[in-house]
Amino acid sequence: MAGIWIDTDMGSDDAFAVVLAARHVPIDGMSLVAGNAPLAQVARNAAGFGTMLQWDFPVFAGAARPVIGPQETAQRILGDSALPLRGEAPLFDADACAGAASFGPFLPPLSAWLEGADEPRSILALGPLTNLAILALARPDLLDRIGRLVWMGGAVGRGNHTPSAEFNAFADPEAVQILLDRGVALHLLDLDACRRVLIDEADVTALAAAEGRNSVAMAQLLGGYLDIALSRGRPAMALYDPVAAAALIAPELFTFTPARIQVECSGALTRGRTVTDFTSPRPNGWLATDLDAPAIRDRCLSALAQV
Ligand code: RIB
Ligand code: CA
Repeated sequence: MAGIWIDTDMGSDDAFAVVLAARHVPIDGMSLVAGNAPLAQVARNAAGFGTMLQWDFPVFAGAARPVIGPQETAQRILGDSALPLRGEAPLFDADACAGAASFGPFLPPLSAWLEGADEPRSILALGPLTNLAILALARPDLLDRIGRLVWMGGAVGRGNHTPSAEFNAFADPEAVQILLDRGVALHLLDLDACRRVLIDEADVTALAAAEGRNSVAMAQLLGGYLDIALSRGRPAMALYDPVAAAALIAPELFTFTPARIQVECSGALTRGRTVTDFTSPRPNGWLATDLDAPAIRDRCLSALAQV
């Protein structure tokens, strides 16, 4: 399979998604975007995972701010690092994150990657779409090189960052609008799809006992991620970004339905809400309307147990 590009705001579920994708497809490059945390923290997280997991692909720095709106992070939920952990030991030491300082700008290498494409490319987007909106504005000539933009974002039903909006869409709705206006082949894994793929305490326990060189660290992360749900009285947590990774590496596990996807940019209560019309004669994207949740869960947990 041809290599993919990953754009990410490097929280816990982003890392799980990268581990899953890396087991199935080559990763040609990664661009970082502010989202779960400010860009500097996202870069430290990416550098730390790159050291821990011995990533062999280049990582580049992207946008520190949304295209137009105010900066929004998920640190009130995830903590300053955006990597909630179980246990006392830090996940990475400062040396492991030192590489963050050397991440160069993303636009030239992403543009070159698309220019060099002899077939349509696949991009996995796991955060706000700011970087890809910048690409669309700076290099509109390259958009037809994108065969699939598979994005964890949006919500047909209730939001998670506001009652109305999912975080990645809320953090930069204008970026979503820019891409929707330009006919980019957006494949949406929204909250409703991702909420069907859940992990619980038994999965954390099994991961901690797995044979992988990093499975204990992954269990610390998965446990901290599960604690977000447990702290709200829920016994299980949705795997958001890994569902998007699974859609890219194993599309046979999904049903995508064409739809007209729009995003609210100005509503006081509804900013960042995505609106999906399956009856429109002018569809501009695809939304995952069915999926094999047990198979997706197993692929993700198996990847974490062996990394
Ligand atoms: O709403 C969930 C999404 O927002 C995930 O991608 C999570 O990592 C955050 O970026
Ligand atoms: Ca993310």
